[in-house]
Amino acid sequence: MRRAIFPGSFDPLTNGHLDIITRSAPLFDEMIVAVLNNADKRPMFSVDERCAMIRDVLPTVDTGDCRMLVESFSGLTADFARERQATAIVRGIRAVSDYEYELRMALMNRRLEPQIETVFLMAGEEYSYVSSTLMKQVFELGGRVAGLIPELVESKMRDKLNP
Ligand code: PNS
Repeated sequence: MRRAIFPGSFDPLTNGHLDIITRSAPLFDEMIVAVLNNADKRPMFSVDERCAMIRDVLPTVDTGDCRMLVESFSGLTADFARERQATAIVRGIRAVSDYEYELRMALMNRRLEPQIETVFLMAGEEYSYVSSTLMKQVFELGGRVAGLIPELVESKMRDKLNP
């Protein structure tokens, strides 16, 4: 049984995340999209809203035979991965600028849980500049983000801005 976690803030889910999910899912039997419940940050969406959006969008993409789960977690990613008996942590790398941060996290996570490997996928080139932060910023200032985030996420963002 090959179980992976794909941890992140997902505030909100982007098509870049979905690209990493669809490309990494065939490598595993089960994947948990692990949504960080980060009390320090002021997110646009609550952790429950983020999990619900991901659950709604996942059936619209092809994840093959991989069983997909969505869970929130607090604390260390390495602890969550161990508790769920995952053998891998999946992360995407978009550009060189991501590399240093991801390397530090991967090395620290390996020190904490040596039996769990971090598996990196290079982002699809069409999403290599897409981040949740950039999507929120552009959307809030009236820019077009169609094609870069799922339609459902875009409509939830619209609801947030014009309740
Ligand atoms: O989507 P993000 O914000 O790039 O995801 C970052 C995340 C959630 C993977 C990272 O912040 C994380 O693992 N946070 C949990 C706390 C933790 O384990 N910190 C030490 C990492 S070595």
